[in-house]
Amino acid sequence: MMSAEGIAFILAILYLFFSTARHESTSISGITMSRSLISLSSSLANAWPVKRSTIIRSLWCGYDNRLKFSSSGRYEDPILPISRSHLNRFSTTKAEDESFYESTVKSALVMGSKMLIEGGAFEPELSACHLLSHVLQLQVSNGFYHMLQILENDKFAREIANREVTNSQMTIYKEFLQRRLKHEPIQYIIEEWDFYDFTLKCRAPVLCPRPETEELVEWVKEHIRQKIKNPSQNFRILDVGCGTGAIGLALARLFPQASVLAIDLSPEAVALSTENAKILNLLDDVLGSTRYQAILSSASSFKLDDDEPGFDFVVSNPPYIPPADMHTLTADVIEYESYDALCGGESSDGLDVVRDIINQLPEWTRRSVLGTGDLFMEVDPTQPIILQKSLGVCVDELAKSKSNVCFVQRRNDFNGKERFVRLKVQQWDK
Ligand SMILES: C[S@@+](CC[C@H](N)C(=O)[O-])C[C@H]1O[C@@H](n2cnc3c(N)ncnc32)[C@H](O)[C@@H]1O
Repeated sequence: MMSAEGIAFILAILYLFFSTARHESTSISGITMSRSLISLSSSLANAWPVKRSTIIRSLWCGYDNRLKFSSSGRYEDPILPISRSHLNRFSTTKAEDESFYESTVKSALVMGSKMLIEGGAFEPELSACHLLSHVLQLQVSNGFYHMLQILENDKFAREIANREVTNSQMTIYKEFLQRRLKHEPIQYIIEEWDFYDFTLKCRAPVLCPRPETEELVEWVKEHIRQKIKNPSQNFRILDVGCGTGAIGLALARLFPQASVLAIDLSPEAVALSTENAKILNLLDDVLGSTRYQAILSSASSFKLDDDEPGFDFVVSNPPYIPPADMHTLTADVIEYESYDALCGGESSDGLDVVRDIINQLPEWTRRSVLGTGDLFMEVDPTQPIILQKSLGVCVDELAKSKSNVCFVQRRNDFNGKERFVRLKVQQWDK
């Protein structure tokens, strides 16, 4: 079954093929291409429960692999497909009448982009778009989209482009730009970020949600939908290492009959995910049962109470970066996000926390109401093969002698990296 991003990409290619066939003068440059993708993404966003920014991102990733990965394979933001020369050309021709452009959204955007480019900030244009959109109090994805349109000189954004930026807005914007010049992640500056089909509060040092984790949610969603046909069937999900609450909250929103318990060893993460659950009205449902709860615990020490039912599904985006790769992370990641959220432990393979989770899986799922013992995880692309070899594939007889947990499947992310694994308990000790 093809993912939403896969279908989106194919539709984009067809769209571009026909639009370039109709307009011979349309060149497939970054600019024209991205504009087509953005308009297409708007239509697609109306049809799917995925934010437009997610679709824009997946479309860009598909047509142009200009995605940056650290050597560990962790995804960073796509580079905006607007060329620097375009920006310079645009700003010199348009800056002739300074009085008109002085305090407009358009001039603020160009000024911010140039400042970030010159200061060596990461993803300068993308950053200026997000920061200004936030200062103008536009909705995260829509505002960002309008800012892109302005940078692309799109006539549809003319009204916003010519809006005045007030002095107080300009003061905040400049403060934001200064923070970005110090490589602070956009998510921490604007204190929120879109994930899946909702918005999460973000705060240092809790890990900012990443787009590939949305794919993990999609995978788990597909699996649960296949497994549970009765919509009133209650079940329990455990999210290990909840961070902002991204995965557990997305699943709680998707499955009203589920009860999600999230654990994290970081008090900041537990507090933030609880805050996010409250904003999303997921702390309690109308009948008073807990839809989402976050508690402070490490994977290795978390135990079920004696009378507590087991978990039917366990999901995790654990810290997984091998220690030797930590020095390759960019300043925005290593200086602001928690080390414990990133580094997978002292072992060279970065699998310490993953192994804690695997060791605990049989106990956590032993009293599963559905009799399932499924574990879905996001990992480093070097790790699926290590896990497959050490645990054994579930269908092989040999796997039984190796461990109580076996390897079911691996899955690639939208950039073709082996990013996700599914494991399961093959036997519970008597
Ligand atoms: C990569 S982040 C993932 C955060 C969130 N789930 C997401 O996808 O955005 C890993 C999280 O696991 C937590 N963590 C690290 N080691 C842990 C452990 N041994 N037990 C439980 N949580 C842990 C970190 O504090 C961090 O919040």
